[in-house]
Amino acid sequence: MEKIDEFFKQLTLGRKPINLYEPIYYTLSQGGKRLRPRLVMMATKLFDGNAETALYPAAAFEMLHNFTLIHDDIMDDAPIRRGQPTVYRKWNGNIAILSGDALATLALQTMLNTPARPEITLQLSKLIGQTSAEICEGQQLDLDFETRGDVTLDEYVTMIRYKTAVMLAGCLKAGAILSETSPENQEHIYQYGINLGLAFQLKDDLLDVYGDGTVFGKKIGGDIRENKKTYLYLRALQNADAESLSVLQHYFSSINFDEDEKYQAVRAIYDRLDVRSQTEKQIAEFVRSAMQELEAVHVQNDDKKQIFKDLLIELSQRNK
Ligand code: IPE
Ligand code: IPE
Ligand code: MG
Ligand code: MG
Ligand code: MG
Repeated sequence: MEKIDEFFKQLTLGRKPINLYEPIYYTLSQGGKRLRPRLVMMATKLFDGNAETALYPAAAFEMLHNFTLIHDDIMDDAPIRRGQPTVYRKWNGNIAILSGDALATLALQTMLNTPARPEITLQLSKLIGQTSAEICEGQQLDLDFETRGDVTLDEYVTMIRYKTAVMLAGCLKAGAILSETSPENQEHIYQYGINLGLAFQLKDDLLDVYGDGTVFGKKIGGDIRENKKTYLYLRALQNADAESLSVLQHYFSSINFDEDEKYQAVRAIYDRLDVRSQTEKQIAEFVRSAMQELEAVHVQNDDKKQIFKDLLIELSQRNK
């Protein structure tokens, strides 16, 4: 990961205008979990690809991820990310829009610069393009759902598949493409990533209500404030008695409530209906499906898969 850090430094160092590149460097140098480049490298290793070459897709996907975060924080009105002010709060909305746009473009350029055979580089570039469009589709659904009262659990899963899971899956597929493994392996590792991503987003929803803000790095309760139709909310709706239902619907009809009052009231209902353990159960389901996809991957030495199993446990138990 030091190589990626160095790459990000070189990408932005001394570039002007400062108000475009400083927010980009600010975001990229905050770190975060660096999950996406980790996935690219893991898949490259699993399928015996070239780790040096994989740095390009690894950096490209981490850049695309950071672009989505800069814009996501505007859409979600989020003040804090990775324990620091979000770009649109530290600078302003226009700067956040433009530095995000530039970062997305730099991500594609980085992918196009992958030093591989032209067919491989083309496949990788198509992959990041498609992933990027799908994330926008997921983000739009997420926004549309804020003002809808009839969102189903199936629709929710479709939404998070696009906004979150396709990027994690895409990272794994990038490593698989680069390593020129079979189309079957590419598909199974992609589907492992989809299920990992679904579990990952459910855990994110959970931490948004039950996490420790100083560890999670984001302001707790943002999803409740913004009327996000999360797994927790949809489960609560399903289980609610008449009184809880009317309280939930009351608070989710507007964003103009006192933030803390709304959070406490909704969380009390979540507690009472035990949506926390139901969310954990669903996470375990996605983890199980991911394991099955992993089983179906063909490699010489099955021991190489252990790190993918460990990752599922690590991410479903994370608190940041
Ligand atoms: C945040 O992703 C956005 C979601 C998909 C929930 P991460 O939790 O991977 O963010 P960082 O990069 O570690 O900060
Ligand atoms: C994550 O959605 C999806 C993207 C950022 C594309 P969230 O809105 O839940 O992510 P966080 O919680 O702000 O990181
Ligand atoms: Mg969002
Ligand atoms: Mg958000
Ligand atoms: Mg979230």
